[in-house]
Parts: sequence; C-alpha cells; structure tokens
Amino acid sequence: MLQVKDLSFRYNSETDWLFQDFYLETDKGKIIAINGDSGSGKTTLLNIICGVIPKMIKGNFSGKITFNKTDLSTLTLPQTAPLLSLLMQEPDNQLFFPTVEQELAFGPENLQIEPEEIQERIDKILKVLQIEKLRNKETHNLSFGQKKLVIFASILTLDPQVFLLDELSAGLSNDYITNIKKILRNLAAKGKIIFLTDHAGDFADIADTVIKLSSNPIDGKI
Ligand SMILES: Nc1ncnc2c1ncn2[C@@H]1O[C@H](COP(=O)(O)OP(=O)(O)O)[C@@H](O)[C@H]1O
Ligand SMILES: [Mg+2]
Repeated sequence: MLQVKDLSFRYNSETDWLFQDFYLETDKGKIIAINGDSGSGKTTLLNIICGVIPKMIKGNFSGKITFNKTDLSTLTLPQTAPLLSLLMQEPDNQLFFPTVEQELAFGPENLQIEPEEIQERIDKILKVLQIEKLRNKETHNLSFGQKKLVIFASILTLDPQVFLLDELSAGLSNDYITNIKKILRNLAAKGKIIFLTDHAGDFADIADTVIKLSSNPIDGKI
C-alpha cells in the first residue's frame, strides 16, 4: 500500500500552496490517473511521491509518504528509484547513453543483474513495446514520443513496484497508446501501482481512480 499523508507543499514563499493537507492512499494493483490543467501540480505530485521533492528539489514541504509501511524519507533517491520509478515529463532529462540498448542496460546493470538476464529483459520489453527497430538507434535522434517509449522501456527493465508516469502518452499515436494501456493493465494485474498524469484524458478508461487537481489554490487539494 502507498500512502501520502498530511502533505503540504509550495515551491517557495512567493508561490501559492499547491497542496494543503492532501491525503492519498492506494492498494497494490491500482491505476491512478492524475488530471488537471497545466500548472495544477501533476508533475509536482509525482516528484513528491518518489522523493525528488524534497530530496532534490527543495520547497516548503511537510508530509509523509509510506510504501508498504516503509517511510520513504528514510531511503535515498538511488534506493527509492528501483522501487518507485519516475518517467519524467521531459525525456531529455532522463536519457544518458548514446544508444537505446545501452540506455536500457544501465538500470539492470546497476542492480547487478546477470548480463544474459539483462539481454533477455531488453529483448522482451522492446518487443512488448513494439520498438524493436529502435534497439541500435542513437537516443538523441529519436522523436519526443520515441524517447518517452525508450524511457518507459528502461523503467520496465527495472521492474519497480510503483510506476510514476508523467505525460506518457505525449507524442504517441493512438496505436501505441492502445498498446501501452494493455501493458499497464497487465502490470496492475501483477500488483503494481501505477500513477499517470493524464491531462488529455487518454487513460481515463483504464484508471481505477481519477484525481483531479485544481489550479485554484482556494479549493485546496484534498
Ligand atoms: N521548480 C519549480 N520552482 C518553482 N515553481 C515551480 C517549479 N516547478 C513547477 N513550478 C510551478 O508549480 C506549479 C505546478 O507545476 P507542475 O507540477 O509542473 O504542474 P503540471 O504538471 O500540472 O503542469 C506551476 O505553477 C509551476 O509553474
Ligand atoms: Mg506536468
């Protein structure tokens, strides 16, 4: 179970509170879509759940995030990332290697997974995502949507418990989105928790819950 308790956050004293006394709880196997206008705090919420806020991005933060009873503030970001993996809104912030294959191998190598097992995982994931043809491509030449798919693939190779997917459908055709929905449903069936920001409503039909964030701070976000 993942729980966000007593969350209050604003970036600094000159900006409005984005969250005040916010509470959220979810069991395993759920898909939670986070909806709301641009600037309503969707990306911020994902960064809070995985600990990037406040560990890397500071602000006026209070609250407690727990996953299966572990207080996530007791873990470092490198410890958290394989458990709760974030797909960032901007893919260029998350691609580090010259080729797709190297990008996908990095995470599992860090987890000391055997090379043969890594190759098997990469083969399988490229196939499932229908991007086998990208395997030897240079990451910086990919389109926006292809970059998002490669990062999603790299997260799948890590096999985290919680997926935090920021604008996953941006730049993708309907065929890819349909395929991704199938993948997400399978992950949920295996007990994974999936948060996805979804300002276009692409994932509304597979979400168990839709959280609508308001951009009006007076409404609060409860
Ligand atoms: N690092 C930051 N410092 C200050 N303000 C920020 C920062 N990141 C985002 N914001 C502001 O916080 C609000 C919420 O942003 P964000 O979470 O990115 O919204 P969304 O993802 O829903 O578009 C916006 O007003 C945005 O300008
Ligand atoms: Mg955003």
